[in-house]
Amino acid sequence: MIDLFSSVNNMVVVDKEKIEKYEVNEIINKVILGDALRVLKKLPSSVVDMVFMVPPYFLQLPSKKLRRWKVKTEVDAVNDDWDKFGSFEEYDNFIKNILTEIKRVMKPNATIWVIATYHSIFRIGKIMQDLGFWILNDVHWVKTNPMLNWLGVRFTNATETLIWAVKDKKAKKYTFNKEWAKKFGIGKVGANFGFCQYAMVKSD
Ligand SMILES: C[S@@+](CC[C@H](N)C(=O)[O-])C[C@H]1O[C@@H](n2cnc3c(N)ncnc32)[C@H](O)[C@@H]1O
Repeated sequence: MIDLFSSVNNMVVVDKEKIEKYEVNEIINKVILGDALRVLKKLPSSVVDMVFMVPPYFLQLPSKKLRRWKVKTEVDAVNDDWDKFGSFEEYDNFIKNILTEIKRVMKPNATIWVIATYHSIFRIGKIMQDLGFWILNDVHWVKTNPMLNWLGVRFTNATETLIWAVKDKKAKKYTFNKEWAKKFGIGKVGANFGFCQYAMVKSD
């Protein structure tokens, strides 16, 4: 019988302060558990084929409990410490430092996907352009089951935006599966949006 627990355990490398650097053969096909910036600084340059980044969105929720209008039930919002920043400047620095290291570890023809909501995706896009990333597309994730719009004072927020980019304008021969895009999109090549159900699993 396959021991699923030890198979999963063998795929995880827990980062420790005393580890100074990682060689590619030590970490290939593994998940490194640790602070992203600290871990990235230990990786060699130009080794990564593709990056998918889901950073804190800096949702800036009020400190009081959020209750639904009329029914008054409590909203289970993301209010974890990792999403709290003292200011936009602090958030921007956090994102900029991580993206700087990400750019260093990306191969010349690697691509990066970054996803966030309207709270931060525009800031992230500006930072990426300032760092020299070259944006290929923005892609829209359309949620078929978004959070209900209880107050009705603005549009239902049913999308998240992905930025798809290469390291710089000179990047050539990055991976794009046109045939696959044709299957799932509209038009000759496929359009920059996809429908998806939103699912959130909370762990304690
Ligand atoms: C928007 S959530 C995305 C979570 C996950 N990708 C998902 O889809 O459920 C941002 C994640 O970044 C993690 N995070 C925040 N700061 C981090 C850091 N400095 N290093 C590594 N991960 C961090 C948080 O623990 C959180 O799980």
